[in-house]
Amino acid sequence: MPMAIELAPSLLSANFAELGDAAQAALEGGGSVLHLDIMDGHFVPNITFGPPVVASLRKALPDAVLDCHLMIENPDAFIPAFAEAGANWISVHQEACVHLNRTLHLISSLGCKPGVVINPATPVHTLDEVLDLVHHVLVMSVNPGFGGQRFLPASLQKIETLARIRESRGLSYRIEVDGGIALDTVGDVVRAGADLLVSGNGVFNHHADVRENAARLLAAARSAALVRT
Ligand code: DX5
Ligand code: ZN
Repeated sequence: MPMAIELAPSLLSANFAELGDAAQAALEGGGSVLHLDIMDGHFVPNITFGPPVVASLRKALPDAVLDCHLMIENPDAFIPAFAEAGANWISVHQEACVHLNRTLHLISSLGCKPGVVINPATPVHTLDEVLDLVHHVLVMSVNPGFGGQRFLPASLQKIETLARIRESRGLSYRIEVDGGIALDTVGDVVRAGADLLVSGNGVFNHHADVRENAARLLAAARSAALVRT
């Protein structure tokens, strides 16, 4: 059964001095999930923000779905703090987890939806044993760490593979894609089978209105969904 297409604006590309307003504008433009990139300067070569910022966003936007993408080492040590801060969804990198099964159960046990992420160099089959545990699988279509990078087309095959496995195993995980998603790439990822579209620069590109950017991207995604097989 085809899943609903949703836009997840990534606040990494927003103006951090006005995060609440930026998030609100992206939601008004049709974003339905706020994607929050948590970076520790170890797992990825960049640092962003931690639980206090998530807690502030939760306070400002009590009903928003907060999707925390943890690009950090030793995520088990920080997952409880993100859950406490108000995260709804928490995803961890397969590459960062020694005991991935345990980590996903930890996320669920705290009342959050667990997700797993794979880097461009990580094959889909490394997730075979956890696909029945996750709410979403996030395919990185750039190497994580920075916004504004070019989409890596090899991720399309991974999305197709995940859609095929979902169908053949009767599973229900969402397929999320992150990196380089904009008007020129969104159609391909939707036709490949992605249903959650993360976009940073495509939404907060500072050259146009955030609401309009989000609305255009979502419209392009939904029209591509009409023709996917
Ligand atoms: C990259 C982050 C992305 C980033 C995407 O490491 O995980 O969520 O914000 O930015 P764009 O859409 O600009 O590629
Ligand atoms: Zn992300």
